[in-house]
Amino acid sequence: MASSELKQRIAFLTWLLFCIYLWLSLAPLVSADEHNHVYEDGEEVVVWMNTVGPYHNRQETYSYFSLPFCRGPKEGIAHYHETLGEAFQGVELELAGLDIDFNMPVRRTTYCRIVLTEDTAQQLIYAVQNQYWYQLFIDDLPVWGIVGEVSESDSDRYYLWTHKRFQIGINNGQIVDVNLTSAAKRLIRPGARIAFSYEVIFRQSDVPFDKRFDKYLDPSFFHHHIHWFSLCNSFAMAAFLVCLVAFLLTRLLRRDYSRYSRAEESQWELERSFSDEFGWKQVYGDVFRPPAQPTTFSILVGSGVQLSFVVLCLILLAMSVDMNGERAGLVSAAIFLYSASSPIGGFVGAALYSRFYLASTATSSSSNNGQAASPRWIRQGVAQALLPPSLICGVAFPVNLVAVGYHSSRSLTPSQGLSVLAIVTFALLPLSLIGTLLGRNLCGRPSKLPCRLNAVPRPLPEKRHCLAEPPIICLLGGLLPFASIFVEMYYVFTSFWAYKIYYVYGFSFLAFALLLCATACVTIVCVYFLLNSEDYRWQWCSFMAGASTAVYLYVYAVYYFFFKTRMYGLYQTAFYFSFMALFCCGLALICGAVGFLAASLFVRTIYANVKTD
Ligand SMILES: *[C@@H]1O[C@H](CO)[C@@H](O)[C@H](O)[C@H]1NC(C)=O
Repeated sequence: MASSELKQRIAFLTWLLFCIYLWLSLAPLVSADEHNHVYEDGEEVVVWMNTVGPYHNRQETYSYFSLPFCRGPKEGIAHYHETLGEAFQGVELELAGLDIDFNMPVRRTTYCRIVLTEDTAQQLIYAVQNQYWYQLFIDDLPVWGIVGEVSESDSDRYYLWTHKRFQIGINNGQIVDVNLTSAAKRLIRPGARIAFSYEVIFRQSDVPFDKRFDKYLDPSFFHHHIHWFSLCNSFAMAAFLVCLVAFLLTRLLRRDYSRYSRAEESQWELERSFSDEFGWKQVYGDVFRPPAQPTTFSILVGSGVQLSFVVLCLILLAMSVDMNGERAGLVSAAIFLYSASSPIGGFVGAALYSRFYLASTATSSSSNNGQAASPRWIRQGVAQALLPPSLICGVAFPVNLVAVGYHSSRSLTPSQGLSVLAIVTFALLPLSLIGTLLGRNLCGRPSKLPCRLNAVPRPLPEKRHCLAEPPIICLLGGLLPFASIFVEMYYVFTSFWAYKIYYVYGFSFLAFALLLCATACVTIVCVYFLLNSEDYRWQWCSFMAGASTAVYLYVYAVYYFFFKTRMYGLYQTAFYFSFMALFCCGLALICGAVGFLAASLFVRTIYANVKTD
């Protein structure tokens, strides 16, 4: 009686927390609309200077005023308060001080002067040598300009562009187009007096406001026929894999079943043991044995399921909402979605862990006099919540140290680090623990297994073929899924590491779906081969067969670095390789989890129909 009361209380508490959670997740949707980008004539137009950095190292950015540039006279809001997502992307907005009012043309005006010293001249020369360019924002529209250029005749002379001509296209009181032209180059040398000037021209433009980002997109790149061709290829491959699995399920399995039932009917013990009793049926007493390291395994699968959910939601969100105007909108959405979906990870991880635990006690109670290890819920739940964030922090922390050493705008300040910590402790952890609680109580009982588990594990037979060794099977498993996505990955990489704005989310949605489909099919085939060689350790093998896609992707990333980009320097290199490692870890978790889920469905199905005695 007391326990039922307790259960009611727990249920109530859970419900309450769930409501709070729902409320929290809806709150950001309500306050979506901010200022509407409509200006009166004469209203102030703010120019935000963002960052400056070498052209070939996109992630190596510095605050614009770290170079000896000067601000205009106009005072205003001193520093823009960036969101966490913007901080991750290295956005660092500072007021340029240029006086621009809507629809009020400005003639060529000098806004500030500097005198170059030995140091500042060297700084500027270094910037010109490395093809530094800067970015600024006008009404959320990004504008790029180049710092200077090398003299064509004499490569020891470096010039600085000192004049900025803004051409602003307006349509119905809204800014729809901004062009920046640099002019008036001055030789950089110590002692030079340099005056910076600007001018502003307003033009009527017939670009509609909601199409104003279109000029930044590159359809000829993203809709190149190779992109379409690769998508068709992936389709064909996925179709082939689905057919393969269908073939496996119908033909091979039917053959196996009929073989087994013939053996069943045969009265002769001798014939029975020699003729047909081999293959996957032999391991029926072990196939539902929990994997080695059940805690780690359940944590990995839980995180993988959660990540797949987040990626799917992000792609759907990006497909349905135009995120161009939102600086770092996708990063912010990812942070939010990841925290909000952590109950899913907790749920799946705890349910799996609980099932593994109960399955292992079911056998050990007969063998070890009931001396099974007690479950470690707390450890599992906390580790489940903290695995991906600690993975990210473990990689990001050293890179951040390098960024701080470089004074890059991408380095996180301690307060931003604290807010990450706050998100993890106050949102991720409790939400994930709620998921753990629910998963354990609602889904923690193993559904009835088709076969009984043997008390003593069966010895693994000698492999007849080296291809049947689990590591080889796993490595081969990743090849086809990798082949189905690597062209899409080229486009994703190019938009991340170079200056293309990725906008073809329909492609990425299809590629993601095909990847999951290919992974599921390939894993099923791998598990069939593994079980057929009478090896019952299929759980880890199915996870690894999916996850090995990421190994190939990392190799591709190394190739991409050396042959497709021109990055240089410690900071950009460290950033590239650690970020790619994280990306591949995420992909490994996703594909591994999908592979395991598909394989466990497959295993359950085939053993449900076989008679065991
Ligand atoms: C900006 O440049 C493009 C391409 O040269 C041109 O079509 C457009 O009209 C320009 N916009 C303004 C406002 O001058």
